[in-house]
Amino acid sequence: MRFYLTTPIYYVNATPHIGHAYTTIAADVLVRHHQQRGDETFFLTGTDEHASKVYRVAEEQGLDAKTYVDRIVAEHWRELPRRVNAQYDFFIRTTDEGHKRFVQEFLQRIYDSGDIYQDIYAGLYCVGCEEFKSESDLVDGLCPEHGIAPEYIEEKNYFFRLSAYQDRLLALYDERPDFVLPRFRYNEARSFIEGGLTDFSVTRAGQPWGVPIPWDEEQVTYVWVDALINYLSALTYAREGEDLREQFWPHVHHLLGKDILRFHCVYWPALLLSAGYEVPQQLFVHGYLLLDDRKISKSLGNVIDPLDLVDVYGSDAVRFWALRSVSFGQDGSASVDALHERYERELANDLGNLVSRTTAMIARYLGGRIAPGPRNEELAAPLDALRDKLVTRFDVYDLTGALEDVWEVIRLLNRHVEATAPWQLAKDESKADELAAVLYDLADGVRAVAVALSPYLPETAPRILGCLRQPVDLALEQVAYGKTDETDGIEPAQPLFPRVDLPTAAA
Ligand code: MSP
Repeated sequence: MRFYLTTPIYYVNATPHIGHAYTTIAADVLVRHHQQRGDETFFLTGTDEHASKVYRVAEEQGLDAKTYVDRIVAEHWRELPRRVNAQYDFFIRTTDEGHKRFVQEFLQRIYDSGDIYQDIYAGLYCVGCEEFKSESDLVDGLCPEHGIAPEYIEEKNYFFRLSAYQDRLLALYDERPDFVLPRFRYNEARSFIEGGLTDFSVTRAGQPWGVPIPWDEEQVTYVWVDALINYLSALTYAREGEDLREQFWPHVHHLLGKDILRFHCVYWPALLLSAGYEVPQQLFVHGYLLLDDRKISKSLGNVIDPLDLVDVYGSDAVRFWALRSVSFGQDGSASVDALHERYERELANDLGNLVSRTTAMIARYLGGRIAPGPRNEELAAPLDALRDKLVTRFDVYDLTGALEDVWEVIRLLNRHVEATAPWQLAKDESKADELAAVLYDLADGVRAVAVALSPYLPETAPRILGCLRQPVDLALEQVAYGKTDETDGIEPAQPLFPRVDLPTAAA
């Protein structure tokens, strides 16, 4: 299977916050899982740089826009995936020459298909959303997303005949009930289409910052159109001399937050159809990560710097917390206290202690040596079942559910230690075989769990395998019973999640 996954490209008018890290983390977990399955994967992330708000911030700082974006991207945005340990294949910037060239080609195709006409746009525009607004989108005259009044603009623009695509989009949604997940988001997108589609402006006049449109140099491409096209343009120049569209289009899965559903689920497929491309395979719309019940966002001034949390807890813990605390797909709140609590209780205790105890007992009672013994059905069944559960969960992007499935096995293993009490068996020489079997099984369970957790904990999982002197084979088949190689030299493991003091500054 081919699995091409994208994150939205992020606006660079400010530095990254935990909400951006959230999407990037989820995307990376998904991609790593698909790699475990042996899929051919491609992971794209990057930055959306031609927004009016980006241009304005540059002006405020007295910088030329390109100087400003080059700096903030190098210093902060390229850092974001690195700090949360997301292994992307390509980082796109909409200011890349390859992207700009492709945007022009794409627009020309839409123009040639007869879907563009000129008209006057007279109405509202929210610079926060970078979106044209109607009165009905507003609450008390303000944009509900940003709490600011949209600006009135009146300019001659080129419009895209979105209205002409209503029937084709409805047919697409009917044919493909899993086009958009979760289901309630599919319904939301579908009813928006059903409610009637209005043509929208794909250009902006009087703004020097953007990709000039091919047939009228006076206008630049509307930032959302420029941005959406990145998912396709990247494939044309990410690898020199290769056109990855052949391999990965339309095997694309878009991951996005609920605030940008319409652009992705309605506008983007219509633009693709008009330009003669196939529509994406699937879109998954996730919810907001709320902090102490308030949306974590720049405009509300309530920001945790994810990089700070990574410095304190490590990237694995932050990844874990983001996907464990809030059911992926839903909105939910999370806090630094919750991160700390989960770090101690689940990572250090449930998982870390299990690894410490298992390795310490193997070192102490078996001289560091383990070998397969008789098959233990009680452990074999849940370990073998875990693999299938993970596949089912990941197929519907249930990243939180999959993590809970793994945790069930971890709890089972912890109960198994208590129930079998190896320290008692060790006292009785006639129980030597039983002791060896129990500890092999424990090591085996820990190994399988490490492989299952590797998309979430990419740093810790190989360390666990190392503690058990096992090869770092993260293939999904390894989430199974009895795959631990006979080995010696196992020593008591160092704590995987050392104690940390609850930070006060980060909140
Ligand atoms: N530039 C556009 C996307 C263009 S994609 C062709 C954009 N950028 S953004 O930086 O504002 O947001 C990017 C993503 O981050 C969105 O999916 C948004 O939902 C997500 N998040 C921003 N804050 C968030 C939370 N607090 N929680 C979860 N995700 C949120 O929109």
